[in-house]
This record gives sequence, structure tokens and C-alpha cells, in this order.
Amino acid sequence: MKKFVIMKIMKIRAVALLMSLLFVATVWGQTSVGTIPKIIEKDGHHALIVDGQPFLMLGGQAHNSSGWPGMLPQVWCAIKSMHANTLEVPIYWEQIEGQPGKFDFSLVDTILKQGREHKVHLVLLWFASWKNGSSHYMPEWMKREPVKYPNITGRNGQPVDSPSPHTKAAMEADAKAFAEVMGHLKKADPQHTVLMVQVENEPGAWGSVRDFSPSAQKLFEGNVPPELLKPGILKALNKSVVTKGTWKEVFGNDADEYFHAWSVAHYIGYVAAAGKAVYPLPLYVNAALRDPLTNPSATTYESGGATDNVIPIWKAAAPAIDLVAPDIYLQESEKALKVIELYDRPDNTLFVPETGSNEEFARYFYAVLAHGGIGFSPFGIDDNYQGVKKSETEERLAPVGQEYAMAGPMIRELAKWAFEGKIKAVVEKEDHAAQTIALGSWQAVISFGDSGWRSEKTNSHPIGKAMIVQLGENEFVLIGSLCHFTFKPLGVNAGKAWQYLKVEEGCYENGVFKLLRIRNGDETDWGGPRIGAVPAVLHTTLTLR
Ligand code: DGJ
Repeated sequence: MKKFVIMKIMKIRAVALLMSLLFVATVWGQTSVGTIPKIIEKDGHHALIVDGQPFLMLGGQAHNSSGWPGMLPQVWCAIKSMHANTLEVPIYWEQIEGQPGKFDFSLVDTILKQGREHKVHLVLLWFASWKNGSSHYMPEWMKREPVKYPNITGRNGQPVDSPSPHTKAAMEADAKAFAEVMGHLKKADPQHTVLMVQVENEPGAWGSVRDFSPSAQKLFEGNVPPELLKPGILKALNKSVVTKGTWKEVFGNDADEYFHAWSVAHYIGYVAAAGKAVYPLPLYVNAALRDPLTNPSATTYESGGATDNVIPIWKAAAPAIDLVAPDIYLQESEKALKVIELYDRPDNTLFVPETGSNEEFARYFYAVLAHGGIGFSPFGIDDNYQGVKKSETEERLAPVGQEYAMAGPMIRELAKWAFEGKIKAVVEKEDHAAQTIALGSWQAVISFGDSGWRSEKTNSHPIGKAMIVQLGENEFVLIGSLCHFTFKPLGVNAGKAWQYLKVEEGCYENGVFKLLRIRNGDETDWGGPRIGAVPAVLHTTLTLR
């Protein structure tokens, strides 16, 4: 009898477990543990689905020449010290296809193996036809044939250190090698350690707005391809007056840049499609930015890359690319925030694959989450030259490391809230002024500073940040560092008295909020909860009196 009861309980538990697994598997759209990562879109919001649920990449990118076994120990040290869950690391065409048609995946396999040992996901960066506008990662056997694989020519006939996007032989060679890479990943990575692949690196051309070689000139004088003449695309480019004809006729003064953007995107779209046909991981292209506020001339930035003004061209020319991503090194917060806004589009998932690794850039992590971003990643995490002490690397990475330590246990919650559009954020600007966040019947007022008990020191430079997740009309999660929150009732309740019902400080673990303490007294009086240099998570409810 006793045995029968125990067996019955075990059966009920097994069914309950199966039901909960099935729930996880189906709630985000037929994906489940062990399936290929993918990007989904709903109502203009995006999520990277990993193991059946939205995932947030807390990333760090290695230096360009660090994807070698002898360099990886420093990379893993940096990843560990910054509490990252994803490493972005280059893989090199020149190494993988050292001889035409002969492929060596030993470095890729080392990276896969070590990534798993360190329990870290990977984003692989395919350094191939373009690396920062040049073709320095093409294999030697291609570099020896400059006539077959030419660079572009400048307006005055001068040589430009950037590959021609019009060379079919190079495009096909790159596509073939990339398809081999993706085929290898399909076989060697059934556990999906690799979440995404970046195709090329900051493609485009520095030093010339386009290719002016005779063969490119002939194409430029021809008609704009019909794929680009769709009314929606012309409207998005603000070019609806002339709807067919040559590049100059349709696009006027922007013709040179648009022609190069189309040509580069078309080439990379071809490479991406070849890889995707073999193994459909999410693919993206990163962009060296232009000033997003002043509409500068394309001669002043890397022309042809996926800058904010040509995103519609990239979308039309390279449909196998899932997203275009900004590398944010802009110093002024107004510009960095504008870029984040411009790359968060219904047709584009926001991801910041590169940014500075100093503390001023760490604050944009919050802005990225508030725009529904799927990941964030400072560049050059490993100090890869002689003489740098481990403690110096740790100190440099501490600001972002503290944010990742806070976010790590709650990435599933953050990713879900970001996907649902529930996160709002402010980052301290150069004027250090307080900022507000509208929350329905409440307004949050956030000021910045290193706030000790009953004292507030202005931050010496703009590094404060705050985000608020609205869980209910009066219920919020407040997260931040070097900031101070207070609230005001709005609308019909404006001017009424209010109080904190409860301010719970803690962290989310395995989907459950774990209480550290209830903040009250000095920790909520004197104008509201303050957070110092170490980020905190405050589950807060407000009530009118
Ligand atoms: C942007 C590039 O994408 C990276 O590979 C690296 O070269 C950095 N610039 C260096 O600042």
C-alpha cells in the first residue's frame, strides 16, 4: 500500500515536471532547450531566444589578435573578472583557409572547447573580406593576386586600402569559406555554445566614398536595381521624388555613398546567405558610426557600412543579415543615446557588439536594455601587451563588471522585460542634471551622485545610471548605481501625499526575488532610496496616503 502511494506521488511529480518543461518550451514559440538560437520579433520588440527563452548577452570582445590558443588565458581571465556570459572573439579567414580549398578549424575548435569549459557563450567574428574597411584578413594566396582580388580606386585614381565589392571571385571565395565555417559549427557545436556570428568587421571604405574604377563607374552610371526602388525603401531614405533611373538621378548628392552601401551590403548578403543556408544561426554586421546628429558628408566616416542613414539599403540588399549593430565609441552622451535610438527599429534588433571599456560607456548598458537590446559588449577586454598587471585589467573592467554581476543572475528576467518593453532608463549626462521617467500615474525623478547617508557628492564625471521596470501600476523594480530615486504622483493624484509601502533590496535568482533586506528609515528617508557605486536592485511599491 505504502509502495503504491509513493509510486503515485512520483508519477504526479514526473507529470508536473514534464508539464513545466513543455510550458517553457512552447511559451516563446516552439523553441526549447537545445534548439538553435534565433531572433524573434513581436510588436516591434525583439528577443534572442536561447534554450527556449529570451537571453541577454553580457558580452566582452577580445582584442583582434587574441583568438589564438596562447592568448586565450588572458581573455578568459577578463571574461571572469567582468562576470560576462558571452565572449565575442574573432576567427580568421587567413588562418582557416591558409591554402585554397583546405580548411583548418583547429582554432575554432579550441575556442569552442574552452568556451564550454568556462561556461561562456560565444559570438564568433568572421574577419574576412573586410576588417575595418580593409582586406587584411584575406588569405595570403589572395593577397598575392591583387589583380584578381582588387582594392577600390579613389575619385582621382588613387589606390584605396579597401576591397572592391564588385569582385565576384572574392565574393564567391568568401561565401565558400563562410559556408565551410558554418558547416563546421553545425557539426562541432550541437550544444549551441555559439549564439551568433558577425559577418566581416566594420565593412565599408575609409578614404573614398566609393569605388571609382572604370568597371565600378560603369555600374554607377547604370540604373538603380529594382529591389531598392520599392516605395517603402525610397520613403525610408527620404528619396521619393524620382522613382527610377541612374544612381545620380534617383539619389542625387547621396548617390556615391548609397551605391557603395548597396554594393558592400550585396556582397556581404551573398556571403551571409551561403552560410545561413548551411546552418541558420543569427548573423549580423557591425558598423563604424557617423555623427548621428549632424548628417555629415560620407567623406568624413567609413562609407558603405551600415551607418544609420543607410540601414534601409542594408535591409534590402542583405536579407540574410538579421541585424545591423552599432559600435559605440562616440564620446558625447547625446550622440551615443541617439545611436541607440536609431538602431532600435521594428525591422532591426538592437545589439551593441562593441563599445569602450571605461566606466563612462558602462552606463549605456542601461539605455540598451530600455531599447529592448539583446546584448552589450565592451571591446578589448584582455590587456594583450606585456607588462599589464592582472589587477590593472580587473580595475579597468570593474565598472561594467559590477553591472554584469548584478545582471547575471537575472538575465532571463531582464531579457523578458526588455522584450516586453517594460524597462525605462536614464543615464547621467555631461551636465549632471536630474532626469525624470514617466510611469503612468507616477513620475520618477532621478538625480546622480555618490550618495552616502545624508550626503550627496556630484559624480566627477557622468557615470550614474538608473533603470525602472514597471511591474504594476504602483510596483516597480529600481536598478542603478550612483543615483537617487524619488517619485511624484501624477494626473488626478498630482500633489497628493504618498509613501513607500515597501522597498525590498535583493536579487533575482532562478526566477525568484531573494530578499537581502527591507530598506526603511535612513535608507529610504531623506528623499528616497540612494544607490552607491555598487548597483542594487530594489523591488518597490508605492501608495497614496
Ligand atoms: C573597431 C573595430 O571593429 C575593432 O575590431 C577594433 O579595431 C576597434 N575598432 C579598435 O578600437
